[in-house]
Amino acid sequence: MSPTASLLAQRSSRMTASEIRELLKLLDRPGLISFAGGIPNPALFDMEAFQQAYARALGQAKGGRSSLQYSTSEGYLPLRQWIAEHMATKGVRCEPDNILITCGSQQGLDFVGKLLLDPGDTVVTAAPTYLGALQAFNAYEPRYDTLSGNGTANLLRTSAEVHGSRVKLIYLVPDFANPSGATLDLASRERALDIAGELGCLIVEDAAYTALRYDGEDLPPIAALDQKRRGSIEKSLTLYCGTFSKTLSPGLRVGWVCGPKPLLYRLTLAKQAADLHSSTINQVAMHEVALARFDDQVAAARTCYRERRDVMLASLERHAPDGMVWTRPEGGLFVWVTLPEGIDGRRLLERAVDEQNVAFVPGQAFFPDRSGANTLRLSFSLPDPQTIEEGIARLCTVIRSSLPTRR
Ligand SMILES: Cc1ncc(COP(=O)(O)O)c(C=O)c1O
Repeated sequence: MSPTASLLAQRSSRMTASEIRELLKLLDRPGLISFAGGIPNPALFDMEAFQQAYARALGQAKGGRSSLQYSTSEGYLPLRQWIAEHMATKGVRCEPDNILITCGSQQGLDFVGKLLLDPGDTVVTAAPTYLGALQAFNAYEPRYDTLSGNGTANLLRTSAEVHGSRVKLIYLVPDFANPSGATLDLASRERALDIAGELGCLIVEDAAYTALRYDGEDLPPIAALDQKRRGSIEKSLTLYCGTFSKTLSPGLRVGWVCGPKPLLYRLTLAKQAADLHSSTINQVAMHEVALARFDDQVAAARTCYRERRDVMLASLERHAPDGMVWTRPEGGLFVWVTLPEGIDGRRLLERAVDEQNVAFVPGQAFFPDRSGANTLRLSFSLPDPQTIEEGIARLCTVIRSSLPTRR
């Protein structure tokens, strides 16, 4: 044991390395086809727009200096204005003061956990759910319940009470979720609001992939439905976490939380304590690129990812053995696979990398209760269409050869 181990706070035992990040370190083998990453395709980054934006931010006599200076914890006002207008197009009417800029939406999730969760409080999530949210919340030592198809407020309340706990928040990724690719239909969004209302808890709506829709109609965010019910964002029980990571660039680390002002004020205090404010120049540059390029960039991303999703789904149709099922996402970056009975995702990964030089993320890490051993997540964001076809064929070869032999 390390000599400092006894100094660590108890909660640090729940801060474990993201299995995905650990896994990514192993994936630099030559010729490896990886469906593991789930990061945006860098070919989509608008290098020229960002170069110009940074040059302009640094070049102006007065503006240049302020973009290298400390700035406010709430975030760069023109960017918050842009986001408030963007939120209005989705039916969430709000002011810049309803927006806090965070260092990616990941930081928003951490602050929400910090603000709401005492040890033992209950967080309700989907299962599977975004691993990064579990990691962010885990530091605040909650317990988890899952919002299954027939979950009711009563069941959730009772389950929490049995553990001497109270439900504080429901965490949902309503559009093209990571990892499942699933989208909540309108009735499920309304039902989540009913349940939150009955429990008196918040909904944390993680909208990381909302812009990346390839078919079908946009659905209103839960935040918009909530506002419609209650008449104003100030009465809303929803905190909406948005990000530029999947549309313009993840590297600048610019996300936001949108919600009622009293909660936003508290979150701003958490921001102040954590890092004072997000990078000034990155916010200035993001604002300029969003203003000039957001719609075009989203359109380009949709075209690129739609083609890759279609190729992945068609390849699965062609190569998958009986007993393997997968989701058909309307957007986002992920297809979620349930393997034929008896195949373990982790063991399959070892064989897939060794025998066929193809990788994915085993699904278990995405379940708060560590179930889901026979699941895996495939991302179609990085490989080109031909490589996707080849990779799925290789993966299905390993799955086929892993099928338990029937006697
Ligand atoms: C569902 C979901 N939420 C939030 C994030 C965090 O994104 P960022 O912090 O880059 O905004 C991710 C990143 O992959 C994600 O998949």
